[in-house]
Amino acid sequence: MKDTIAVIGTGYVGLTSGVCFAKLGFCVVCHDIDSKKIAMLIKGKTPFYEPGLQEALTRYLQQKQLTFTTHIERALKDSRFIFICVGTPPRKGGGVDLRAYNAALVCVKNALKKSIAHGDIFIINKSTVPVGTASRVQDFFRNSGLLRTVHIVSNPEFLREGRAVTDFMEPDRIVIGVGNTAQKKNVQPFVSLYQSLRAPKLVVGWETAEMIKYASNAFLATKISFINEIANVCERVGADVEEVARGMGYDPRIGAGFLRAGIGYGGSCFPKDVRALHHMARSSAYSFKLLKAVIEVNNDQQKHAVEKIIRALHGAIRGKTIAILGLAFKPQTDDVRESASLAIIKALLKKGARIRAYDPQAQDNARAALSGLRGVTLCADAYEATRGAHALFLATEWKEFQDLDWEKIKVLMKGNAVIDGRNALNAKLLERNGFTYVGFGVH
Ligand code: NAD
Ligand code: UGA
Repeated sequence: MKDTIAVIGTGYVGLTSGVCFAKLGFCVVCHDIDSKKIAMLIKGKTPFYEPGLQEALTRYLQQKQLTFTTHIERALKDSRFIFICVGTPPRKGGGVDLRAYNAALVCVKNALKKSIAHGDIFIINKSTVPVGTASRVQDFFRNSGLLRTVHIVSNPEFLREGRAVTDFMEPDRIVIGVGNTAQKKNVQPFVSLYQSLRAPKLVVGWETAEMIKYASNAFLATKISFINEIANVCERVGADVEEVARGMGYDPRIGAGFLRAGIGYGGSCFPKDVRALHHMARSSAYSFKLLKAVIEVNNDQQKHAVEKIIRALHGAIRGKTIAILGLAFKPQTDDVRESASLAIIKALLKKGARIRAYDPQAQDNARAALSGLRGVTLCADAYEATRGAHALFLATEWKEFQDLDWEKIKVLMKGNAVIDGRNALNAKLLERNGFTYVGFGVH
């Protein structure tokens, strides 16, 4: 009989982890303080869009390998492994808001105090938390009078939204942070949770594990800002950034990934984690100059997008209608947290534009994020969004936008400018259909 796992927080990471541990044969109890979310999950409905998750949820719920509860004590009752997967959103000024995380720890400790169970227990940080957190958690559990021996593990998660299930099941590496050499031996039961996953397993110190997470996200964000700066130079010197990226990517020392130029990175992780690492360095009296530039370049890309749209409209944007295709921070997700699309919409509205927008999955989240703003219409499909538009801006490269009927759109639109924020459309096809095409770093 395999161990029972408790997952605290049923967001993109927690729910995916819970479902995937069930897939690996464990019994999993997922806990959240959001009773609406738990009610939905008990009924077998995922609270957000993530490919493959709904099917897996249905399956493991039916097999009774997955259960959901708002009662922390019920979640911890038989669990030897407790994964903390709650949100760690950004604080103003670049720090990390650990209120949800700290609250979850207090609940776990109180529930464990009431438990009469014995034996070792593992509290695992899957949430992305500042370097030094695991050590602080150890102190928090020290001398707390529990009957159980508590091991604190840092096990950062590297999954991407839109590919979360695949990324969890086929990780590039599994990072396991422990307190000291003695704990390396004790962590073996935890390591064996991932036994059937073929990936390098790195057992390192807590601080190192925590830093691997931040350094990985910051490095990927750096690649994106780097290629965006190359794109800006390409525009000025007549080179094509898509070909440049392809040419660079063949070199395995560089790698082909994360070299897609455009309106920059968004989402709930890169922006917050890059700022958090910059902030952490500053708090340790170190100025991380490179990351400061990465953030600046990323913000500037959104401004460049607005400038390109205005230029395509010959400088007159007030009263003009812009069709926006894509609201999510990237395709295959309904997540709009720190979406570049929404930032650009807000900037366009400030300049007096009217917006007609559409996203295949993120309409509801976008509606909530844009509520109270006048001048935005969310449309039923991409064609509706283009009706009467003077310009079209592609913000998220959903596959369905690459297969649109441009003859039809030419008839629906008032203007003929297409600004491609992701270099994802077929420029030649568009030009053949009478559009003027503007990309990022392409000619
Ligand atoms: P999320 O906002 O989607 O979900 C967080 C969940 O935690 C929510 O359902 C919330 O109700 C719940 N919660 C909050 N306080 C709680 C408490 N005290 N007890 C129980 N549940 C509580 O967050 P997410 O996107 O899944 O991210 C979670 C963590 O994982 C963050 O630290 C994030 O940086 C990290 N991470 C996220 C991703 C990603 O792709 N989203 C990938 C890797 C790592
Ligand atoms: C990212 C990391 O890729 C995951 O490994 C990590 O676990 C996660 O953050 C996290 O810590 O939460 P995610 O935010 O889901 O995953 O999405 P990515 O696919 O990395 O894209 C992030 C942003 O960068 C998107 O806005 C995307 O459009 C943009 N991007 C990506 C580019 O602009 N260019 C690229 O070449 C690649």
